[in-house]
Order: sequence, then C-alpha cells, then structure tokens
Amino acid sequence: MTVMRTALLVIGHPAPGSFSHAMAQAAQHVLAASGYRCVRHDLYAEGFNPVQPVPEASNVASDDPLVEAHCADLAQADLILVFHPNWWSQPPAIVKGWIDRVFRLGTAYGYPEGVGFEGVPQGLLRARHALVFNTSNTPPAREQAVFGDPLDGLWRTAVFGLCGVGSVHRRMVGPMAGSSDAQRAAWLDEVDALVRQVL
Ligand SMILES: Cc1cc2nc3c(=O)[nH]c(=O)nc-3n(C[C@H](O)[C@H](O)[C@H](O)COP(=O)(O)O)c2cc1C
Repeated sequence: MTVMRTALLVIGHPAPGSFSHAMAQAAQHVLAASGYRCVRHDLYAEGFNPVQPVPEASNVASDDPLVEAHCADLAQADLILVFHPNWWSQPPAIVKGWIDRVFRLGTAYGYPEGVGFEGVPQGLLRARHALVFNTSNTPPAREQAVFGDPLDGLWRTAVFGLCGVGSVHRRMVGPMAGSSDAQRAAWLDEVDALVRQVL
C-alpha cells in the first residue's frame, strides 16, 4: 500500500488575485497531479491572527483552534511551500505571525534531554524539503547587493534550517511592476519546473 504524501501550501498576500496566489495555484496543480494530498492555508482569507497573546507566551500550546490546526498541519507535512511578497525585505506581518505562533517549541523545534534554552535547538519537522516563492519589485541584483536579501537567510537558516528542514529552494520573481503577461507566464513555468525538480 502506498502512503499518500502531504504538501502544505501557505499563502500570505491580501489580494486573492495576487501573483503569490497564482504561483501557489501552479504549484498545487503539479503536486496534485503527482499524487500529493495538498493542505492549503490562505492566511488572509482565514483571518489568521499573527499577534501572539500573553497566555501563549510559553509558545507550546494555543487557545486559538486555528493555530492548533496549523501546528498539526506543519508537523505532518512531507513538503512545505510558502508564497508571499517581499515587504521591506521581510514577509508581510501575517506571515511573520504565522512563524511566531506555529513554528513553536515542541512542534517545530526542541532541546535535547537535559539541555535548557541556552543549548542548541534541534529541528523536529518531518519535512525534508521546503520551497519559498516570493514576489518583489526590486531587481534581484540590487536586492542582494544593497539589502543582502534578508528573506533568504530568514527562511533558509533561521526558520527551516533551525527546524530541521535541510533542503530549502527559494525563488523570488520580479520586478513585478510593469511585468508582461508573457513574463508572468514564464515565471509560472519556473514554479512548475522547480516543484517538479524537488519532487
Ligand atoms: C508594505 C509594502 C512593502 C513593500 N516593500 C517592498 C520591498 O522592500 N522591496 C520590494 O522589492 N518590493 C516591496 N513591495 C512591493 C511588493 O513586493 C510588490 O507589490 C509585490 O511583490 C507584487 O506582487 P503582486 O502583484 O502579487 O501584489 C512592498 C509592497 C508593500 C505593500
């Protein structure tokens, strides 16, 4: 009996017609055709609350059922895909809050027996691969040269690396402003190809 693998797709863009949504749609198409069960979370559409309330300060459990559902989906995913625009070289706040509340202690990372918070955390996620797709208006060379592309370090090292997902594939497309339909179609083909490559 073959066990169906699960892909988690998370979108953080306020407009349902955004290119982040279009990239997620293209990726989901490939995943579904490849036999993946796709769990899709559109953070704005769900009304995800990015603000961690005081009772959640220990970062191990939440009174918010949506946060608990997200944590279960994150833990069970074989493959994690994230889609969001570049806002000030960071994710939109709703995505940052998703990281804060969902990549939590005991779900995404932990500490070895007998080692306290001063120790080196261990990743707990089951997924071995993550894909991050971003949109931007800054030309890639300028994003790298002037800003150092902070989104790359955030996802590759601080989040997925720490949580045990060693293989992170990231593509930031753009400049979006003034891009032609042909260019956008070519970017969607790139999404398709990158997902196939990882599968
Ligand atoms: C609050 C905000 C901050 C932004 N900051 C940046 C930025 O730092 N660098 C950049 O290249 N684009 C920035 N942008 C532009 C977005 O990245 C761009 O609008 C988006 O990627 C376009 O994708 P869309 O057509 O799917 O909305 C920002 C947009 C907003 C609304």
